[in-house]
Amino acid sequence: MLDAKSVFKQHYGSAPAHIVIAPGRLELLGNHTDYNEGLVMSLAIDKYIGMAGSPRPDGRIELVSSAFSNGDQFSADNPVKNPNATWADYIKGVLVQLRQRGIRFGGFNAAIHGTIPIGAGLSSSAALEVATALMVRQLYPYAVGSTAMAGPLKRDAQGELPPLGVQEKLVLARLCQAAENQFVGVNCGILDQVSSLFGKANHVILIDCRELSVQQTPLPGDVGVVVCDSGVKHALVAGEYNDRRRQCEEAARALGVKSLRCVEPKQLAAHRSKLGDSQYRCAYHVVGENQRVIFGERALRAGDFEQFGQYLYQSHESSRDFFRNSCPELDLLVELARGHRSCLGARLTGGGFGGATINLVKVAELEDFQRTIAAQFKGRTGRRMQPMSCRIVDGGQ
Ligand code: GLA
Repeated sequence: MLDAKSVFKQHYGSAPAHIVIAPGRLELLGNHTDYNEGLVMSLAIDKYIGMAGSPRPDGRIELVSSAFSNGDQFSADNPVKNPNATWADYIKGVLVQLRQRGIRFGGFNAAIHGTIPIGAGLSSSAALEVATALMVRQLYPYAVGSTAMAGPLKRDAQGELPPLGVQEKLVLARLCQAAENQFVGVNCGILDQVSSLFGKANHVILIDCRELSVQQTPLPGDVGVVVCDSGVKHALVAGEYNDRRRQCEEAARALGVKSLRCVEPKQLAAHRSKLGDSQYRCAYHVVGENQRVIFGERALRAGDFEQFGQYLYQSHESSRDFFRNSCPELDLLVELARGHRSCLGARLTGGGFGGATINLVKVAELEDFQRTIAAQFKGRTGRRMQPMSCRIVDGGQ
């Protein structure tokens, strides 16, 4: 089986000193809430970015990836963009952020191999960022405080580094988000990076993006998770994403609050006239999503998955009708899922405008669900779509 270690050996002719992995994520509930200081639930899934690496003495960094024919090489002191290897921007962005926090590292060779489908909205980019931060930690051990380097880090007798603590994970998540915002130029929130770091096997991650606090709550084994990739890759994703984000921020300003997190449904209704149509639609979606996460958490803790699933359907409808980040293929996938007796809930996951749906399905009928939806999607669109059943896993290490 191809993995980061074998890609490393093939390219560099020796075994790597370290291997790290970081999982992709699924947004379970709470769409476009993260950058509005809101609430969101997610899962880390068994699709990964693996990175194998060894230090090198000459201060150079060399990168290869099984997914791209072009590798890259640059000085560890000066990671600059290379138009022939834009995939490496996610890595360079993290290196720049580490340096800015006073973390010292030298050169290294690295090989990357991933199982997260690219462009399906499962956050291969955040996983690549997290894998980079973890790899540098293995190669040139560092400890991070809230804003900067917090001193050297020692390996134990077995040569292992201490596991990352909660605060360190939060700092790394912020650092990786900053890499994407500032170096790559995508104005994303913090959902993807937190999910890749805080994943816990068979648990849902609950993130409060205002407090930046994370909790984990179990998802029982009789509920399965299936991803259906619509195959639609929207050409203007970044533009649409940034546009919605701007509408949300304008709506908050017009309502006189710091963020849409501060807005209750009643308040939004009472002040609707202060907002333009698009601002209102976006705000309505975000305010509703925050409510659904609160109610969804109660349903989860009470073990009421039928009710929890209803919030997923409602979330999708709100995306489709208000936030307008769905597309006909995603709507069709949710409609087909809803028609299957074993489906508890389904919705688009992540940024939208294409990408994938998440489906909660009774485990006993997982296979029938996948077969049926694939056949129906083929019948309606003529296109092949292979549903993926996902396990919920631990975060990057
Ligand atoms: C993308 C972004 C996240 C989040 C979701 C929508 O995945 O990277 O930060 O905004 O969209 O919830």
